[in-house]
Amino acid sequence: MYDFTIDTAQPKPAFYREVLAAADALTAGEPDGIANMANIAALIWQLVPELNWAGFYRRVGNELVVGPFCGKPACIRIPLGRGVCGTAAASGKTQLVADVHAFPGHIACDAASRSELVVPVFRDGAVVAVIDLDSPLPARFDADDQAGFEALAALVADRI
Ligand code: SME
Repeated sequence: MYDFTIDTAQPKPAFYREVLAAADALTAGEPDGIANMANIAALIWQLVPELNWAGFYRRVGNELVVGPFCGKPACIRIPLGRGVCGTAAASGKTQLVADVHAFPGHIACDAASRSELVVPVFRDGAVVAVIDLDSPLPARFDADDQAGFEALAALVADRI
């Protein structure tokens, strides 16, 4: 078992640098993508506060299929372009949603979710997965969280 501890009181850019270093240490040299997604989801769950869901959806054909995550059991398949995850995957753009109830087509997997951050993971220029973070707090995520998770997505892109 790995026990990473990171000071959540420090400024977010420094916090995410440490999260990235932990994610790098956890996945470097491991070729199994499922093992790496599982450990990254657990790492996010352990380190990043105020989340009720954290994990991966993988692009399979024209839809997203749920991957390793922490949180309540979730929707299994999401068509590209549907919901926050499908929008991120179809557009290739991070979706930072302060109020999920105001997002047209939001898919409520967990009724507790109030805000959401979905970051695409690219390999060879194509979206191969998204990292999905849900929070029970409205407007939980900001530009620093977006930058931190985009850096994490880039780090894990060829390890998942
Ligand atoms: N809310 C997401 C669905 C996935 S769950 O949050 C785990 C969406 O609208 O795509």
